[in-house]
Amino acid sequence: MQTLQSIELRDGQVWIIDQTLLPGTLEHIRIDSVNQMFEAIQSLRVRGAPAIGVAAAFGVWIGVRDAAGQSGADLWPHLEQVSERLISARPTAVNLAWAINSLRQDLALHLDDSASDFKGRALSLALDLMRNDVQTCIRIGEHGAALLHDGMTVLTHCNAGGMATVALGTALAPIYVATQRGQHIEVFADETRPLMQGSRLTAYELSRAGIPVTIICDSAAPAVMQSGRIEAVFVGADRVAANGDVANKIGTYGLALAARAHNIPFYVAAPISTIDFNTASGSDIVIEERSEAEVLQPFGQQTAPEGVRAYNPAFDVTPAHLVTALITEQGILRGIDAQSMASLRSKRMPVADH
Ligand code: MRU
Repeated sequence: MQTLQSIELRDGQVWIIDQTLLPGTLEHIRIDSVNQMFEAIQSLRVRGAPAIGVAAAFGVWIGVRDAAGQSGADLWPHLEQVSERLISARPTAVNLAWAINSLRQDLALHLDDSASDFKGRALSLALDLMRNDVQTCIRIGEHGAALLHDGMTVLTHCNAGGMATVALGTALAPIYVATQRGQHIEVFADETRPLMQGSRLTAYELSRAGIPVTIICDSAAPAVMQSGRIEAVFVGADRVAANGDVANKIGTYGLALAARAHNIPFYVAAPISTIDFNTASGSDIVIEERSEAEVLQPFGQQTAPEGVRAYNPAFDVTPAHLVTALITEQGILRGIDAQSMASLRSKRMPVADH
């Protein structure tokens, strides 16, 4: 099943869908500089853990491409500087550092290459990450589809679809695969305050694919579960700690609690690159705090009295014991704890620790 591709290389140029303009306008923007990529990631023009990893890898390539020098060694200090800058764009999704470090680790072995070979290698590594992401999402979708059946209704939060990866997505991938196999799956999408990724992006891409989707206010989710209409919850992840605790969009933890209270399975779908084996538990994950304006003046509309403060954590942590199963490209893992998670460690692509 085709979803929109969030990041593309066209005629040697990097293009992304500007997700801040959706659902009103589907517009691709060309990214020509590291500053532009940094801004695109920070302002969520490109967003979702796997997508920002791939975008940042292209950002590193753009930085190296535009640097002067005779050899890989000449370009290396510039690459380091660009990498650190891009990693700092957003702190929670580990895919950002993971993707950049995978480039760094490989390119560190090619310092004797000519500058042009070094630049070419940076580009082909970024392209590999992009292609691998598509394949990984297909595998997540195929494994996760086993958890769905014809006529099922599921709930999702934020956007963990094609727009959050290169294509297809993580939490939405099983829904796309099951639909393609002829099953009828219906989706309730939390609108996902404050930036509305659920209503702006999830509802957009599902309805575009012909999958029935109903938007609910975030606060309606427990009541909709109580009404018996939700058979499973599927969400993505920005970082999964070594013990299986899951950082994902703010509101995910509340959904997991409500799902447990109503005996509804709570599934997390994520590539193994989202697992951070260097972070022991969820309490060690840095949670991005975004601007008060996103809450007080959403989309430019003042919705609170002047002078009132807002607190705007972008993510929360769901403890592993509330996760029914983790769906990765390697299959479905139940009984999430540090021990079971360790079985995935060897399956991780061999890249540098971040
Ligand atoms: O702030 P965002 O929109 O980048 O947050 C995205 C999420 O929380 C997604 O659920 C997560 O990155 C998984 S995407 C496959």
